[in-house]
Parts: sequence; C-alpha cells; structure tokens
Amino acid sequence: MKIFIDTAQIDEIRQVKEWGLLDGVTTNPTLLSKTGKPWKEAAQEILKEVPDKPVSLEVIATDFEGMVKEARELAKMGDNVVIKIPFTIDGMKAVRALKAEGIKTNVTLVFSPLQALIAAKAGADYVSPFIGRLDDISHDGIGMLEELVEIFAMYGFETEIIAASIRHVDHVRRCALIGVDIATIPFKVIKQMFKHPLTDIGLERFLEDAKKAGISIL
Ligand code: G3P
Repeated sequence: MKIFIDTAQIDEIRQVKEWGLLDGVTTNPTLLSKTGKPWKEAAQEILKEVPDKPVSLEVIATDFEGMVKEARELAKMGDNVVIKIPFTIDGMKAVRALKAEGIKTNVTLVFSPLQALIAAKAGADYVSPFIGRLDDISHDGIGMLEELVEIFAMYGFETEIIAASIRHVDHVRRCALIGVDIATIPFKVIKQMFKHPLTDIGLERFLEDAKKAGISIL
C-alpha cells in the first residue's frame, strides 16, 4: 500500500519524506488555506519538495469548461501534478477531456462505489473515497471501501484507489487489509503509526538493563 500525506504543510511533508514513507501528496482548498500562504506559493513549495511523486491539486471551478481551463493551468506547474476533480457530471466530463490531453486526474468527494465506478469509466487515474466523512454520518466508510475494491478488482480497472478522509490508525490498518492501492493520511496519523506502548516500555527496559550490566558498545 502506498502512503500519501494529506496536507499542504511543507514541514509535515519534509518529515514524512525523511522517514522514507512518502509516496505522494494530496491537498485540497481547505488544506491549502490552512498554510496561511497564497495558494500558489504553498503549491509551488510542495512541488519543489516533491518533484517526482504524484501531488494532487484541486480545481475550484464547478463547470466543465472552467474545470478544464483550471486543470490545464495547474498541470503546467509540474509533470507530477494530478488534478483533483470533484465528482459531478461536469467533473466526469472534464476527466474524459483531460485524459485525452494526457492530464492526470484524481476524482474527489467520492462517497459510494457507484460514483467510483463512473469515475473509473470516465478514465480517472485515481479515485478518492472519503472514509471518515461517511463514518461521521453513521455510515460504514470501510464497508464502502471494501465494495469498491471488490468491484475494481472484478473488472480490472487501472484507476488507483486512494482511501481519503482517514481519521485514525485503525482506518489505515483496515485499508491495508482490504488491499487498497493508496491511503492518503494526515501527518498526525502517520506519526501515530510508529507508536506502540510496548515498544516504548521494552526499549526503556533494555536501556535500564544495559546500564546495569555496564554495556557500552562504542
Ligand atoms: O483530502 C481529502 C480528504 O482526505 C479530506 O479529509 O478529514 O477533511 O474529511 P477530511
């Protein structure tokens, strides 16, 4: 399972890259607004830090022509830019048109396997089903993802599934079990994936015993 970071914060991206875990970056207008910088500056900074892995940038327009125009502009920012397109009828028309131009797309705001199926048939490179936001309204986010993975496997779609709106480490564990292609994870959750209380306790004991035994390696 590839790990993308769901953020526009450059320090978070740098850290995950240093940890050797970064396979890509996803942003959205909300995440870009949180940087406090002009969106273009924040996006350029990300692309400078991550020039060789997919970086999703989202359009703001909601009509077909507007989306295509914005996507062309965003695509000029880097060869690794993937255009996030909201799941709407115009959005799916835009995905088709952009595919014909060789521009990669990531269909966002996907909440059902049928929406994902339509996005894949439109030729999307990625689809982003939102797990946490379904859980928030008492729906089964992971259950939806399971169905989606099954459907895509059955028909051999090349569209990669990015599990998005991930809220906690158990979401990540279940994504990995289902066999999702990519999980885009907030920085806080990526950090939590390293943690286990027994690792901390175990290390503390080893260090105490090493001290008692006078072990000094160098
Ligand atoms: O970037 C899309 C998605 O991951 C947003 O997550 O936490 O705002 O539901 P969230």
